[in-house]
Amino acid sequence: MKISVVGLGYVGLVTMAVLSDNGHEIVGIDIDGEKIRRLQEGEIPIFEPGLSALIEKNRKRLEFSNSYDSITGSKYTLICVPTPTVNDRIDVHYVIESGKKINEIDPESKIVIKSTVTPGTARMLGSMINREILSNPEFLREGNAVKDTTKPDRVVIGGNGGVEDFSKIWSFTNSNMIITTNENAELIKYASNAFLATKISFINQMADLCERIPGADIRVVADGMGMDKRIGRAFLNAGTGYGGSCFPKDTRAIASFANDMGVELSIIKSTIEYNENRIGNLVNRIENIIPEKDSRITVLGLSFKENTGDLRESKSIELITELKRRGYNNLKAFDPVTSQVEGIDIVADAETAIKWSEFVIVATEWPSFSEYLEGVKDRHIIDLRRIIDNKTVKLDYGVGLNVTN
Ligand code: UGA
Repeated sequence: MKISVVGLGYVGLVTMAVLSDNGHEIVGIDIDGEKIRRLQEGEIPIFEPGLSALIEKNRKRLEFSNSYDSITGSKYTLICVPTPTVNDRIDVHYVIESGKKINEIDPESKIVIKSTVTPGTARMLGSMINREILSNPEFLREGNAVKDTTKPDRVVIGGNGGVEDFSKIWSFTNSNMIITTNENAELIKYASNAFLATKISFINQMADLCERIPGADIRVVADGMGMDKRIGRAFLNAGTGYGGSCFPKDTRAIASFANDMGVELSIIKSTIEYNENRIGNLVNRIENIIPEKDSRITVLGLSFKENTGDLRESKSIELITELKRRGYNNLKAFDPVTSQVEGIDIVADAETAIKWSEFVIVATEWPSFSEYLEGVKDRHIIDLRRIIDNKTVKLDYGVGLNVTN
């Protein structure tokens, strides 16, 4: 089947790769000419485990173009363009514009919205161009995107006509499938992201409490909570707060969307507020541990989480900015993927960075960081992600750990 994908970010590129691996002919469209040129030359513009290999393997069935004309003859065109939050409100104009363009070029191609949009967006686009729109929200995590798309926990499809037929393209996943209205599909995405964000702010608050209780450790508390099937262990890792291109923007968008409808999502609002203050509060604690502002400090990790090079709304970058603002100017950083960020002195290898420093701050959950710090005895270690085994390495500070333990 010929399928087109509009918008070649994480969602679009991974969707293309996975669907082509299932034998479909896929056309990818993006307005960024430079990105298309790189993709045509075989260069993958993002770091995502397994993605390059999958694109390489299916190259024959993949086409990259910056002209919407190339979608002609596609049975489905999947919209994967960004939906930024501007002044706390979702901006869906990229989705609407691309829907209109697809309609102009090929009125037969069925339009599917994969971008995260507030409830009512598919219906609005449908009434503008007078046709049925399908919703198929995406739940992939960066760093795990290929696996999540190949074997998602569930596939959600919303719409009125053609839903059953469209669902067949995902039948290879053998995942739970929920077929429903556009509005339910749209809200399932927001409710899921907001709930996961809430889990993170919740566990970070519990971590604050643990730090005050001799004998307490948030990791053990989270393990104990997680064994209850109704709670689950996932997303109970205390840390620097949630970042990335999704949770911060989606929580703000759904809170203001609900507000406009006269509903106060107070739990989500407090999740957002706590998360926004998280780095400031952690730096208050760091100031007690590092009183000398000219101490040599290395921050490990720059991306918003492990296994990605994505720096959008990264808590590590926010941390470095805040440390500098408070006068710590002897700062270096190491990251396994990122080697250049304006204004940050990035060291090419972790060992050199650790040797140079008096204080090492673990800011991202890359598993290799615990290996680097294993056996390091003569450096002060501040673990903001709790990935270091505090039984073997002495921590000066660990999130959610009472260090008098
Ligand atoms: C998130 C969702 O997990 C996906 O299901 C969704 O498809 C995606 O947003 C989206 O809306 O497109 P992603 O942003 O890739 O995926 O990242 P997550 O793995 O969810 O992590 C988000 C943030 O929470 C990161 O900063 C991470 O470090 C933090 N986090 C996560 C914690 O602090 N503790 C945890 O236990 C888990």
